[in-house]
Amino acid sequence: MRIAEVVQTRPWVGWLLFLATAVLVFLIGLFGATIIERRTEAVVAGVPVQPMPEFEPRNAVWGQAYQRQFQTYIQTLDTTFQSRYGGSRHRDMLAQHPEMVVLWAGYPFARDYDQIRGHYYSVKDVHQSLRTNVDMPGTCWTCKSTDVPRLMNEHGVAGFYAMTWRELGEEVVNPIGCQDCHDPATLQLRITRPALLEALERMGRDIDRISHQEMRSLVCAQCHVEYYFRGEDSYLVFPWDEDGLDADAQEAFQDRVDHTDWVHSISRAPMIKVQHPDYELYQSSVHAHRGVACADCHMPFHREGAVKFTNHHIQSPLNAISTSCLVCHGGTEDEMLALVYANQDRVFQVRRATERQLAMLHIEAGAAWDAGATDEEMEPILQMIRSAQWRWDWIAASHGAGAHAPAESVRLLSVASQMAAEARLELSRVLGRLGVPQPVPMPEWEKSSLQAFIGLDMEAERAQKRAFLQDTLPIWYESAAHVQPGPTDFVPRVPGADPRR
Ligand code: HEC
Ligand code: HEC
Ligand code: HEC
Ligand code: HEC
Repeated sequence: MRIAEVVQTRPWVGWLLFLATAVLVFLIGLFGATIIERRTEAVVAGVPVQPMPEFEPRNAVWGQAYQRQFQTYIQTLDTTFQSRYGGSRHRDMLAQHPEMVVLWAGYPFARDYDQIRGHYYSVKDVHQSLRTNVDMPGTCWTCKSTDVPRLMNEHGVAGFYAMTWRELGEEVVNPIGCQDCHDPATLQLRITRPALLEALERMGRDIDRISHQEMRSLVCAQCHVEYYFRGEDSYLVFPWDEDGLDADAQEAFQDRVDHTDWVHSISRAPMIKVQHPDYELYQSSVHAHRGVACADCHMPFHREGAVKFTNHHIQSPLNAISTSCLVCHGGTEDEMLALVYANQDRVFQVRRATERQLAMLHIEAGAAWDAGATDEEMEPILQMIRSAQWRWDWIAASHGAGAHAPAESVRLLSVASQMAAEARLELSRVLGRLGVPQPVPMPEWEKSSLQAFIGLDMEAERAQKRAFLQDTLPIWYESAAHVQPGPTDFVPRVPGADPRR
């Protein structure tokens, strides 16, 4: 009997055959998928995955297994590139924008503020900054080192934040690196900083449903964001909730929790220092809406023979236009550069005008206090100063603002400028009532004379720093204890996404 005949007389045989075939196909598929998964699990960019111990902070140890990534990572040591507004070469921001000395009077940023450079310098630059002359909380280390996840594990997250910068200092020696972004066993991208996980949770995000492309930005959002220290124990919080991430929503958040970073020493306004809302500002860009991730421009693919790998020399993309921008855009490097500079110039122009207005405003408010102004008449003006400077700083502090989101940058600066103008008008009425001659005399707009003007003794600041670098730092480095995994109270999270997809 042929099969066709059997099936005709006994239909259930047909169904049985069909079922058997289906099961067979399924099993073959499963087997094949397992093989492919094994293969992608075992090899990345041409080299086998070699699991690292959890909490291995030393980039060079990872580098033995992943040489291409390490070789490009250590290029962040290079400080030769400078573009019109960015790059890694030294740039004294207070010398270029002396108004900022007045804007930050009473806050450590008025002492010293430089252009950022590569990740390799993250620990060194914190040691050297005059801003760390004052007592800082341990929280300041959070975005500086691969030693942080290990120390959080050891002391607990809240315990880590509550320690002092100096207490933790001798344990923080390795700059930002591999273990901040990668799972040591699988090399998948992961989130190691609890503040980001907590913020995403407040926004109602399910961490396990985050796509791989979004992770290529979120690894950066662990640090390149606005944040504040909550309460006595300096708990690190991102001012994010379901209202959104923009400057207006973040200001409402900080007003709601009644947060003030410092009281301005001239105007007595209750100020918020903006940190660096790079990730948040980027969200309002055309690129973000098209799903382009930070890594697409700042960590482009490189090809070496048959091997394609991710360039870990994170830097200004203007030093690598052909591998970053031109992968997606037509045209030449010069055309791309001209486009970026045109946007940055527009933002820069509004920024300069706004910061001068704001600096004059603080000084005029100081003159009003000196002439006997009352709390009652000053209160609404001080609130306007807080709001205006918040918007200006959102752009001034955000790296690459003019390049990332030019329209939103110009909007915020314009609103800041308008608020400052309104406040100056109000203040002018107060000054008039008090009989203060106007215009109020202004200081020379030059960094060191302004530092003296706001009462800083820069010689003493520099001497204190020299003593720290000569006496304390060598001891810190000597006693640096590296890998000491302790009991776990925080587990870094690898979202469901597979980084190789
Ligand atoms: C479409 C490409 C692109 C994307 C995507 C992008 N950037 Fe940028 N970024 C730039 C350009 C262009 C600059 C300006 C560099 C300059 O002025 O030299 C810049 C500047 C920066 C800078 C300052 C670098 C310097 O040398 O001054 C930082 C930090 C930065 N970006 C972080 C981020 C983060 C974080 C993200 C994701 C949230 C991101 N970028 C997404 C193109 C991009
Ligand atoms: C700031 C975050 C960050 C740091 C720090 C970092 N990486 Fe990566 N790494 C990435 C991103 C993003 C990718 C691309 C992943 C993807 O899209 O699948 C990547 C990819 C990789 C890959 C996969 C192969 C490839 O080239 O795409 C390896 C291996 C790797 N990194 C090793 C390292 C090593 C070793 C270090 C330390 C020297 C390091 N990474 C530091 C973000 C980081
Ligand atoms: C653990 C915190 C941390 C993470 C994660 C991180 N950064 Fe940074 N980044 C910093 C700090 C701190 C600096 C400034 C270092 C300095 O100036 O000493 C910096 C500097 C930079 C610079 C300036 C480099 C230059 O040469 O001018 C760029 C660009 C940058 N980061 C982009 C990124 C991108 C893109 C990602 C994600 C792929 C990322 N960063 C992830 C903390 C971080
Ligand atoms: C991963 C792909 C990708 C990369 C990399 C990329 N872009 Fe884009 N870019 C886009 C897309 C998509 C758009 C939106 C185009 C549209 O909607 O018409 C865009 C739009 C733009 C625009 C017009 C919108 C605006 O923001 O003003 C400029 C300018 C631009 N890109 C510059 C750059 C520069 C400079 C770089 C490199 C630093 C770069 N792009 C890298 C994909 C990319």
